[in-house]
Amino acid sequence: MNILFIGDIVGKPGRQALQDNLASLKKDYHADLTIVNGENAAHGKGLTKKIFNQILEWGGDIVTLGNHAWDKKEIFEFIDDTDKLVRPANFPEGTPGKGLQFIKAKNKTVAVINLQGRTFMNPIDDPFQIIDDLITEAKKKTNHIFVDFHAEATSEKQAMGWYLDGRASAVVGTHTHIQTSDERILTNGTAYITDVGMTGPYDSILGVEKEAVIRRFKTALPVKFEVPETERTVLSGIVVTLDDQTGIAKKVKRILINDDHMRFH
Ligand SMILES: [Fe+2]
Ligand SMILES: [Fe+2]
Repeated sequence: MNILFIGDIVGKPGRQALQDNLASLKKDYHADLTIVNGENAAHGKGLTKKIFNQILEWGGDIVTLGNHAWDKKEIFEFIDDTDKLVRPANFPEGTPGKGLQFIKAKNKTVAVINLQGRTFMNPIDDPFQIIDDLITEAKKKTNHIFVDFHAEATSEKQAMGWYLDGRASAVVGTHTHIQTSDERILTNGTAYITDVGMTGPYDSILGVEKEAVIRRFKTALPVKFEVPETERTVLSGIVVTLDDQTGIAKKVKRILINDDHMRFH
């Protein structure tokens, strides 16, 4: 089974890159399941119902989130009406939505989990505590378990990868918006990458208009962050091939397509 994962879609340029590339990527990699991180899909912050539906129309099967999950308040109106949205599981009890969803792919069930890190991020429940219960719950139905760990620190992400080695099929990092080149299969069969990277405006700073970010560093004053209007985009993703029976990762391939006509895939 091939699972294609696309990193954080940032604003309109990110949506454009997704729309332009997703069908051919799915074909090239024989994707049985496509997971898209949509936490920044609406104007760089959050997700609207319209954009969520567009991601599904363009070929996404299920959408993961992150610390920006709640930035567009309308998400509270639809997050509980769908099983195709996964928010970080370690928000406090009572938070709308779910951090673990099951989806069918290639006649199998796949568990998709979203978790949020705590290092250099806003306080949240411990992801390492909650993940054991989530894996137990997922294992009742499937050996195919995909984890999007939305976190800042490379150490925290590596720790989660190794903590889940042999228990999850894949642990992929999101949130930093910069792709790392450390994709591998850990010793007990879990596919891992520290960060998949973003899908968004190429000439930007993490998807934000670069002048604004530079001004913030130079002045230390508050600055409004906007997604720049640009046609030059970057798409970041990863594809993992899992054994159909055991869910163990057999192959992992990083995808990076940017408008310097660089294609790494
Ligand atoms: Fe993000
Ligand atoms: Fe994030």
